[in-house]
Amino acid sequence: MALNLHARNFLTLKDFTTKEIEFLLDLSMDLKSKKRARNQFPLMKGRNVALIFEKASTRTRCAFTVAAIDEGAHPEYLNKNDIHFGVKEDTKDTARVLGRMFDGIQFRGFKHSTVEELAKYAGVPVWNGLTDEYHPTQILADMLTIKEHLGGLRGVKLVYVGDARNNMGNSLMIGCAKLGLHYVGCAPESLLPAKERIDECRRIASESASGGTIEMITDPVEAVKGADVLYTDVWYSMGEEDKAAERKALLTPYQINMNLFGATGKDSTLFLHCLPAYKGNEVTEDVFEHPRSVVFDEAENRMHTIKAVMVATIGDI
Ligand code: CP
Ligand code: NVA
Repeated sequence: MALNLHARNFLTLKDFTTKEIEFLLDLSMDLKSKKRARNQFPLMKGRNVALIFEKASTRTRCAFTVAAIDEGAHPEYLNKNDIHFGVKEDTKDTARVLGRMFDGIQFRGFKHSTVEELAKYAGVPVWNGLTDEYHPTQILADMLTIKEHLGGLRGVKLVYVGDARNNMGNSLMIGCAKLGLHYVGCAPESLLPAKERIDECRRIASESASGGTIEMITDPVEAVKGADVLYTDVWYSMGEEDKAAERKALLTPYQINMNLFGATGKDSTLFLHCLPAYKGNEVTEDVFEHPRSVVFDEAENRMHTIKAVMVATIGDI
């Protein structure tokens, strides 16, 4: 059943019910099969979307661009260095100007408060393409990929190994809580999420009655036991380049290599990574290239899921 998400912002998955997220995944699958069959009917004809980037991007930028064009919309890439963003003009003024010209705005950048401010003033849907705190469009692609490979989401054990308090750790924990997966965050004590964040996600799991659970384990071998999905991300995120050496020292025992991949005790465990990957740090080449690594299915799914978010919030459905 189609749910009405028209005119909604997409800032974090916390703002969406389990049913709404499941609807976005169903819509993604539908749009994906229509594209494969070359049977698309443009659902965003005449729309214009602004894509603001403070940070670099390959997947997110290309996913928004191709998805918009597939659906008959015009995407406009706006690098922060090319526009008066946050330097010569207040964010709320840029938001009001772009809101008068565009039908939707994607923002990728540093502070989460910036995307919130854009959403507050733009008057059109704002989509979060990654902030220091959250990366919600990535989670839709991850969940779609898991669903395609494992047949469902509820009861799946997903172990995230690495910097468990970065935007990916935070967002996966929310996604698992909403959709009924068993989430295990695995990191040294200093890189585990704050207690309030863990409590918040446990609350989300119980309020949404998804059956999802949230657990934190510092020992990687113990954490990965029985995992259906092993997930990792870079050890230092965009903007944290000065932390490279410190993180390498802390996270080397948490590298996903063939030993840790084998320690799940299952020969069906999938490997996921949001990419870009730093091979030799968080993952070894052999795991990355393993037949059970589904990172490129996951990357492709960024496009189908981002398309669903745009179509649902500004399209003709
Ligand atoms: N996964 C992801 O967001 O990739 P980009 O940084 O290339 O957009
Ligand atoms: N945690 C990473 C995710 C990149 C998609 C970063 O923020 O750089």
